Amino acid sequence: MEEHLTVGRVAELAGVSVRTLHHYDEIGLVHPSERTAAGYRTYSAGDVERLREVLVYRRLGFGLREIAGLVDDPAIDAVAHLHRLHGLLLEQRDRAAAMVTAIDTELRERAMGIKTTPESQLKVLGAQLYEAIGSAYPATRRTEPRIAARIWDALGDAQTVLNVGAGAGSYEPLDRDVTAVEPSAVMRAQRPAGAARCVGASAEGLPFEDQSFDAAMAVSTVHHWHDPIAGLREMRRVARRVVVFTHDASAPGWRHRFWLTRDYLPEVAGLVAGRPSVDQLARAIGARMEPVLIPWDCSDGFFEAYWRRPEEYLDEPVRRAVSVWTRVGPDAEQRAVDSLRDDLSSGRWAELNSELVALDAAELGLRLLVA
Ligand SMILES: C[S@@+](CC[C@H](N)C(=O)[O-])C[C@H]1O[C@@H](n2cnc3c(N)ncnc32)[C@H](O)[C@@H]1O
Repeated sequence: MEEHLTVGRVAELAGVSVRTLHHYDEIGLVHPSERTAAGYRTYSAGDVERLREVLVYRRLGFGLREIAGLVDDPAIDAVAHLHRLHGLLLEQRDRAAAMVTAIDTELRERAMGIKTTPESQLKVLGAQLYEAIGSAYPATRRTEPRIAARIWDALGDAQTVLNVGAGAGSYEPLDRDVTAVEPSAVMRAQRPAGAARCVGASAEGLPFEDQSFDAAMAVSTVHHWHDPIAGLREMRRVARRVVVFTHDASAPGWRHRFWLTRDYLPEVAGLVAGRPSVDQLARAIGARMEPVLIPWDCSDGFFEAYWRRPEEYLDEPVRRAVSVWTRVGPDAEQRAVDSLRDDLSSGRWAELNSELVALDAAELGLRLLVA
């Protein structure tokens, strides 16, 4: 028999009070539009969909009036709401990870007797991921010449180049007229003297006219964007050619391909769940896709870079320069590092990964998209 979604049952399933649901009904936000034969008011599938949107927006801190405007907007359908909510939740999760990092830093400083300034205490509240971890970035993140050659080759004869999510300026070609875009002030401040001019903005809203650059490039950044497809379309809008270096975390079996995610840090799966696949990204801008192998001695210390040098992951500065380690949280990080350390000293890692020693480069899902 089909279950009737009465007010009491819906309150129980959604974990809210019956009073809250009555209030939403009274203000016209979500109305149980059906009735049982006995006259009890029940929620239809459409009512439940609307209620779910309302409750998630509410949990994200939106006000009821603002939510009413959002759920009544005829231009946004249920799928668009889900994409929007997904981006907002990821943003909230990254912000929480950044706050945990900032609080950890303050706790360490206090334990050492270092006095925290009122300014740094307030900064914890506004912590953004790269504001919190960005200063650790340049220690190990630099242009890897073999990957740079692929990116620059893909830029073709472009003279004016926009570098989106530019960070401290790695991979910016020196022989072209580059403009950088980077939302994090901490990252912008780390651009070397003489680097290309850098504008504080996000990929999803590029402050440039249509077709104002020969090419736009984005390196190791798309996975941070709240709406990667909107960001790529913006790049397409402002440039005649688009070159993106990213990883294919959605490919079947990717988690098993890299020993670090397979055997030590499975939590990474949760970070990429629901993100657009690299195929979807490529389709959004009509790009062709080329695999990029990672050399064994890769000089850019991104997450997969040390696939043949596992002991590097035991090094705190190496991890701090890769956002994944902050985003999985301190418990998962500690567990993964302890377990890897044990396996390296017992010889278990070497036994399980013996085939890697013979490889000069590994295919771990890195991709170049060119449109
Ligand atoms: C891993 S770093 C890569 C930086 C640089 N492209 C490189 O290869 O060294 C990722 C960068 O993306 C930036 N970022 C995060 N969200 C962004 C967004 N929505 N639009 C543009 N950049 C963003 C971060 O602030 C950070 O500097």
